[in-house]
Amino acid sequence: MDTPLRSWAGDRPVTSPFARPVGTRGRLAGRFMLWTNKQDDVLHILDVQPEDRVLEVGYGPGGLVRLLVARSGAAVIRGVDPSPEMRRAATRANRGAIRSGRVTLDLGTADHTGLADQSVDRVASVNNVGIWPDLEAGLRELHRVVRPGGVVVIAWHGGVSPGPITRRLRLPEAKLQRIERALQKLFADVSRRDMRSLVVFKAVR
Ligand SMILES: C[S@@+](CC[C@H](N)C(=O)[O-])C[C@H]1O[C@@H](n2cnc3c(N)ncnc32)[C@H](O)[C@@H]1O
Repeated sequence: MDTPLRSWAGDRPVTSPFARPVGTRGRLAGRFMLWTNKQDDVLHILDVQPEDRVLEVGYGPGGLVRLLVARSGAAVIRGVDPSPEMRRAATRANRGAIRSGRVTLDLGTADHTGLADQSVDRVASVNNVGIWPDLEAGLRELHRVVRPGGVVVIAWHGGVSPGPITRRLRLPEAKLQRIERALQKLFADVSRRDMRSLVVFKAVR
């Protein structure tokens, strides 16, 4: 993770410890995210069914994984994130479920998940689509791994009452529309909802 990382959405290299959680700053950013990032809206829209296989892309410190373990009937929860620091933090936050085999957290990215074709029922990505290097490659990969009829939920900072930090991280409307159009090219049914502090796209394969 030493080479500058550029995202499809921005014109400057991605250096924030929240986007590239490396070293001490990355670990502190992880603690902050676990404390502040509320994932209930995503859990609700994801609508996990009993025995579903769920993939989270960019799990960070593991807050959504923890919610999925506690409040969904998912049989299997997989996660990929490129940051070894976040893998350690998310592992700490979900030790019991990892030990029992219900949760597996790997290193990986949106465009290289390492999962088999059509191997999951639900995919979630929260607050990382804006830092992917290649939007279309990431969405193609998520389309590949979700089964027909399965659901992909992509959420990014925004929504109807974002706090001051979230407000600064919002994407311009043209970029949100690019996400929606890219999803529509791949998925059968795409909808967008503005939640409290997230804009959320739901795509059904
Ligand atoms: C702002 S954090 C969000 C973490 C968590 N989803 C949350 O909402 O608390 C962004 C996360 O995306 C990860 N990330 C960065 N590039 C990624 C990529 N190309 N694919 C998947 N995840 C990525 C980072 O390592 C980091 O853990």
